[in-house]
Amino acid sequence: MGTHIVQLERATKAFALPEGGTITALHGIDLDVERNEFLTLLGPSGCGKTTLLHAISGFVQLDAGKVRIDGDDVSDRPPHRRPVNTVFQNYALFPHMNVGNNVGYALDIAGTERKERNQRVGAALELVGLAGLENRLPRQLSGGQQQRVALARAIIARPKLLLLDEPLSALDRNLRQAMQIELKTLQAELGISFIFVTHDQEEALTMSDRLAVLNKGVIQQIDTSRTVYDRPTNAFVASFIGASNLFEGTAARSGGNTLIATADGLRIEAACSGGWKPGDGAAATALIRPEQFSLVGPGAKGPTIGIDIEQVVFTGLNFQIHGHTPSGRRIVAIIAAVRQADVASAEADGKARLGYDPAAVHLLPDDGTAAAEMAA
Ligand SMILES: Nc1ncnc2c1ncn2[C@@H]1O[C@H](COP(=O)(O)OP(=O)(O)OP(=O)(O)O)[C@@H](O)[C@H]1O
Ligand SMILES: [Mg+2]
Repeated sequence: MGTHIVQLERATKAFALPEGGTITALHGIDLDVERNEFLTLLGPSGCGKTTLLHAISGFVQLDAGKVRIDGDDVSDRPPHRRPVNTVFQNYALFPHMNVGNNVGYALDIAGTERKERNQRVGAALELVGLAGLENRLPRQLSGGQQQRVALARAIIARPKLLLLDEPLSALDRNLRQAMQIELKTLQAELGISFIFVTHDQEEALTMSDRLAVLNKGVIQQIDTSRTVYDRPTNAFVASFIGASNLFEGTAARSGGNTLIATADGLRIEAACSGGWKPGDGAAATALIRPEQFSLVGPGAKGPTIGIDIEQVVFTGLNFQIHGHTPSGRRIVAIIAAVRQADVASAEADGKARLGYDPAAVHLLPDDGTAAAEMAA
């Protein structure tokens, strides 16, 4: 038995469009999912997340490539012959069955003894916070409650692999955070591998062992949350996960460091420990996360960027300072709430000097994303 619960090899899928032509939803995707891993798929609407899950579950037949689950090539098997359960994006409950029968469906099919069946249905409903609602019909529940019934129905049979397509999207923030923790615990306790789709980057960062960022049917980066956030492989990933200040320009060596000279006259200094190092004259984009900036005085050591402040937003944890450089480049900085007095005096001046540590600047090969964003 290999270590991987899922292996996709060159998975390719194109759909014929009714208006003519085709769209390639998966572009030769290679993906290995570890046993007991919590893997999250993140990417913009239409990038292929649902198609990727369906390729694993069998609801989508690949045009080319292979799907292996638990070492077996299941590429030609229908969904019911794959050891997988799916929580669908549109939850798809049986409308004529009550909650208890929806949740107990897999156990009823398997002929599980009545007492155990009822006990497991009760426990699954308890877990999703719906104890006692066995006799309701789906239409007698809110959208968030229906979504939780779908979750309970998917986990009750304890599959080796659970595919979850935005399973928490209909829940309010508090319930969503509670369910995030429940799902994480459940995954660790049952030893199930999860492939989890979400639009919510905070959810993706907090829940996952690893994160795969998709765009246009291609995996842009797959790694731990920390690495994807700190060391994105390109400007698309950098701007999709977390807020980012991107400075596209031309690289020049300067002592041990690299300077990125932008067209609007900024010089961004990067210490480049690890990660990609551009050669002299190469096109490169420097990434500075908003929280890497600090408010500094006029005599500050180290590199700085001066901005005119447009808006200061207090979020409870910190201040977001939105502003622009003299050339009109937009900058966002996040300053800890304890620096309230400094933020207030900068706000009164309408100006701020932002310092940063060159070691916290990450360099990316230029893929055109930053330039496209500037133009937008
Ligand atoms: N059955 C289909 N026929 C034609 N095109 C399809 C079909 N299913 C999906 N597509 C197209 O394939 C692409 C990927 O769709 P997919 O549903 O995988 O996106 P997604 O990442 O899940 O998006 P969302 O976040 O909006 O759910 C989209 O451009 C979509 O329009
Ligand atoms: Mg989808």
